[in-house]
Amino acid sequence: MIARLSVAVGVGLAVLGWSTALAEPPAAPAASAPTLERLEKANPVAPIPASPLGIERKLAELPKPPEPERVRLGRWLFFDKRLSADNTVACATCHVPDDGFSQPTPVSTGIGGQKGKRKAPSFLNAAFAFFPETFWDGRASSLEDQASGPMANPIEMGNTHEVVVKTVAGNANYRAFFKKAFGDEKVTLERITKAIADYERTRLSGNSQWDRWKAGDQKAVGDAAKKGDELFFGKANCSRCHVGIAFTDSRFHNLGIGWDEAKKDFADKGRFAITSKSEDLGAFKTPGLRETALHAPYMHDGSLATLQDVVAHYRKGGTKNPHLSPKMEPLPLTDDEANSLVELMKALNGEGYQDSAPAVFP
Ligand code: HEC
Ligand code: HEC
Repeated sequence: MIARLSVAVGVGLAVLGWSTALAEPPAAPAASAPTLERLEKANPVAPIPASPLGIERKLAELPKPPEPERVRLGRWLFFDKRLSADNTVACATCHVPDDGFSQPTPVSTGIGGQKGKRKAPSFLNAAFAFFPETFWDGRASSLEDQASGPMANPIEMGNTHEVVVKTVAGNANYRAFFKKAFGDEKVTLERITKAIADYERTRLSGNSQWDRWKAGDQKAVGDAAKKGDELFFGKANCSRCHVGIAFTDSRFHNLGIGWDEAKKDFADKGRFAITSKSEDLGAFKTPGLRETALHAPYMHDGSLATLQDVVAHYRKGGTKNPHLSPKMEPLPLTDDEANSLVELMKALNGEGYQDSAPAVFP
């Protein structure tokens, strides 16, 4: 906060014709700097979480397991609005814990009230993704690579990597926690994104009603959700794409979302912008379905208001366009069957990811 404020003061002085050299960041007033003890208490190092029921893989068995000190540091960074240009937007502004780390709006709003073009996706269980690419179009090759994007995105956090690193490095308390996490006080973009990505990897979702039913508790879900499960993995074949622990193949498919029949074009070209392959036109990454009931509206553009609307889109076989996935074909489902698919998805709300911002920041 102090460092960012002094930048603003510096600019102000420059406008008045004074030397900006006067505006060196003042030392943080002792009263406002929390002690390391308070910080430790507000955000203690926690062991790497055990996987909730239904998540058969373990974080500790990953090739590069998240490290507790980095997770703790990443938690602060994830919730820290000072990473944005005007101190108003944190990662958590758009990836809201209570909304399954997504957001219940069609698109996100970044600094200065600017609206983006895509819906903020959830990253729950991303530690175990089949493929590492992130973003709706897969343009980032890892969670680390992804995390550097929003800070320097003019609509999202509106900052530059240089200023983010300077802001964090200018904070003695943060430096102390970088030392604990990485062995020395050096603050780099790579370390910032590593810490955030390790925090993200610990956000797991399992132990849902559905997981408890699969583990043998016959009463954990109602008949409708059981019927929905049979359809999802059977006749409706949703599991062709929504598969595995997170219910996503992490691949790209065209469902016709965003196709403009009048213009014969997509509002958003999706994966095509990255690969230039015509089959990727209008294709987007399959989103995971855990906690999905928490964050309507749906799809990359938030264009479908409810889970009922999503199922209706599949029933009609998607929206016809020249690049529609061959896996999309009309689904002959009764209204009752459509409802049971919705009930199944509602039964996928569970636990393991819940969190809130630490009360005190470095
Ligand atoms: C202003 C809102 C906003 C902010 C702030 C924001 N994000 Fe996002 N995030 C989005 C949107 C929108 C997308 C999808 C963009 C796209 O695909 O082009 C996204 C995508 C992602 C994804 C990809 C998930 C997947 O499955 O592909 C991850 C991970 C993520 N953000 C983490 C972060 C982190 C870490 C930060 C902070 C450094 C952050 N976000 C800040 C809105 C935001
Ligand atoms: C061909 C692969 C494929 C099949 C089959 C498929 N999906 Fe999807 N699903 C996707 C993709 C890709 C998206 C995102 C599309 C977009 O935004 O353009 C998606 C989006 C969704 C969403 C929105 C989630 C969110 O966070 O916005 C839900 C819910 C969903 N699918 C449920 C289902 C159900 C239920 C079925 C079976 C009836 C199904 N899917 C079949 C690939 C598939």
